[in-house]
Amino acid sequence: MKRTRILGTGFYVPEKVVTNDDLAKMMATSDEWITQRTGIKERRYVSEGVGASDLAFEASRMAIQNAGLTVKEIDFIILGTLSPDYTFPGSAVLLQDKLGASTIGALDIRNQCSGFIYGLSIADQFIRTGVYKHILLVGTEVHSTGIEFADRGRDVTVIFGDGAGAVVLGPVEDKERGILSTHLHSEGKYAKKLWIEAPGSIYHPRMTQEMLESGAWFPKMDGKYVFKHAVTRMQEVIEEGLQANHLKPQDIALLVPHQANMRINQMVSMAMEIPEEKVYHNIQRYGNTTAASIPIALHEALQEGKVQEGDIVVLAAFGSGFTWASAVIRW
Ligand SMILES: CC(C)(COP(=O)(O)OP(=O)(O)OC[C@H]1O[C@@H](n2cnc3c(N)ncnc32)[C@H](O)[C@@H]1OP(=O)(O)O)[C@@H](O)C(=O)NCCC(=O)NCCS
Repeated sequence: MKRTRILGTGFYVPEKVVTNDDLAKMMATSDEWITQRTGIKERRYVSEGVGASDLAFEASRMAIQNAGLTVKEIDFIILGTLSPDYTFPGSAVLLQDKLGASTIGALDIRNQCSGFIYGLSIADQFIRTGVYKHILLVGTEVHSTGIEFADRGRDVTVIFGDGAGAVVLGPVEDKERGILSTHLHSEGKYAKKLWIEAPGSIYHPRMTQEMLESGAWFPKMDGKYVFKHAVTRMQEVIEEGLQANHLKPQDIALLVPHQANMRINQMVSMAMEIPEEKVYHNIQRYGNTTAASIPIALHEALQEGKVQEGDIVVLAAFGSGFTWASAVIRW
């Protein structure tokens, strides 16, 4: 059986830069508090009328071009987001239309911060079994239209940013290269530790004035709880991926973790004795872009020449669900 390779990457972030000082004008927070606890200095926000599929479109165009392909050669679209343009249909079909792709399948997945690796795993199965040759996988988020710019929501608001990252995947004959494994996990009993409660189909009606006023439509997070679980689970799932391929932490050339909090990633790499220079960070510039963070980071790491052919690259994520996942790739 063939393996799956990343043929091209792309990203897009909106032009509008919002610094920690900008947020401090809207809520009781400070550059010092945000920097110390998360490593974030600034993030990007969309302008009015721009949705998740618009960001995905720009990132996808770049990824397809960098893969040396045209839209016509893409056989399937997978899009990970927790912030779709509309409740339904999903944003993958909007992307299919914006790209001018033919009537290929377009799948939305809802796995939050682990969305990109879950999507990678799905794409890998389709390509290895020969069902599809080229798959476009995108992570895209617009958080800025759904967070609370007030003291009440400050713990969540300061960490999120908007952006999109994309990859194009295709088959590789060399069995030593490409995606070596993916490992996916979930623990739904912690669903309410990081979630948006409303609107929801369990409510009759789904949306009420009271929900609007109480802020039930804003994300809520038990930050300390999420932090602790993230550190443990990311470590576990990286180990799981390495062991499945008879590799050790020392074999990793580059770890591209989900960019949720620089402190989480520093604790994981310290515990696993992975040197700082082998761990990619860009959270300082974009904040947490959820499903988009890994493909954006991967794109920038490649642009900076941090990955050479044959290198072991490990992706790892943890987030709402809880869900967590890793991918081990030989570049
Ligand atoms: C959000 C996070 C940075 C908060 O850091 P923390 O050290 O746990 O801080 P706490 O939540 O205990 O809050 C400490 C104090 O800061 C306050 N605070 C919260 N957000 C604040 C902000 N943006 N600015 C200033 N103060 C803030 C709290 O109200 C609390 O005040 P109190 O002591 O008077 O009650 C941290 O928990 C975190 O990063 N968690 C993981 C988040 C994550 O990764 N989410 C995405 C997963 S995909």
